[in-house]
Amino acid sequence: MKAEKFTLLRHFDGWPQPSDFQLESEELAELQEGEFLCEAEYLSVDPYMRPYSRNLQPPTTMIGSQVGRVLESRCERFPVGSRVVGALGWRSRSVVKGDTPPAVFGVRPLPELGGLPDSYALGSCGMPGNTAYYGFLELCQPKEGETVVVTGAAGAVGSLVGQIAKVKGCRVVGFAGTDAKCDWLKTLGFDATINYKTCPDIDAALKTAAPDGVDCYFDNVGGMLSQRIRQQMNLFGRISVCGCISSYNEKTGEEVKVEVPEKTILFKQLRVEGFIVSRWDKEDLWQKGVQQMAAWIRDGKIKVQETVTEGFEKMPQAFIGMLQGENTGKAVVKAAAE
Ligand SMILES: NC(=O)c1ccc[n+]([C@@H]2O[C@H](COP(=O)([O-])OP(=O)(O)OC[C@H]3O[C@@H](n4cnc5c(N)ncnc54)[C@H](OP(=O)(O)O)[C@@H]3O)[C@@H](O)[C@H]2O)c1
Repeated sequence: MKAEKFTLLRHFDGWPQPSDFQLESEELAELQEGEFLCEAEYLSVDPYMRPYSRNLQPPTTMIGSQVGRVLESRCERFPVGSRVVGALGWRSRSVVKGDTPPAVFGVRPLPELGGLPDSYALGSCGMPGNTAYYGFLELCQPKEGETVVVTGAAGAVGSLVGQIAKVKGCRVVGFAGTDAKCDWLKTLGFDATINYKTCPDIDAALKTAAPDGVDCYFDNVGGMLSQRIRQQMNLFGRISVCGCISSYNEKTGEEVKVEVPEKTILFKQLRVEGFIVSRWDKEDLWQKGVQQMAAWIRDGKIKVQETVTEGFEKMPQAFIGMLQGENTGKAVVKAAAE
């Protein structure tokens, strides 16, 4: 059986380039007892791939998760025709050992989502969904009436965090990189939005958007923007440090100069905590988050958008585009173009 995969040829230095990847064909081995053959239907492109690829030793298959269909099986847990979600890399088809224990980046049967699209298992009802659900609710502990700021607000995680905050009765301010994204956030119920790329005075804009100060900050971006937001935190504010995408694409040796944050953390008595979503990768906890997100979506409390790129061969393009802000909501690749 023939398959295709993307090989990462070298470590990224600065922005990833299409030439850092190579599309290759491979011949898959016959299935052994306990294995199944999976065909990718949707593949995820995520910011973590940029920093985590540093741990790879190129040339090697690029990392990533996908939703796939079982084409052939010698494994009872994964029957032919069933769907799976898991970290099978940038591959069109894979031979998978069915007994891999469930893990965020392992392979598991697709959760029952009550009629929602399968691709949601890569976004709102998967890793980004649980990042928003647990990373926001457990670390920020938002209370009704509090003000929540979200950066990267129009992305996969940020758009969910803002809507969860609305479910909890908070005032929500979102930062995003285009006016169109800001307009979309308003349709999701965000109370105020700021285009961080064009806003001439972030401090003044945030003061207007959050007149009572900021109680919770869900930080997806780090760097200078986070420095400005920290200044307007209220006493005993909580910051959930989810990501720092503003520095992922620096060239080796490049430095961003931001203030030392300890003084603000000290005098405002902030609680600042970083997390990696695998913290909640216990089967019952993971499914609880997935099912809560799915229920909110089915009830219309949370709206979901995907930016879908069609064609497996466009994986690098979709990945680079996502890092550059071309996506609204979750960026996914549909393996077969229509
Ligand atoms: N801790 C965890 O376990 C965990 C899990 C998942 C994701 N994350 C982190 O969460 C963040 C969001 O991830 P996601 O999957 O939801 O991706 P995403 O927001 O859907 O896509 C990335 C977005 O980042 C924004 N961006 C790019 N460069 C930026 C910059 N210099 N400053 C501000 N924004 C920038 C772009 O939107 P604009 O047009 O608005 O610039 C882009 O659309 C990332 O930092 C990611 O690493 C962490």
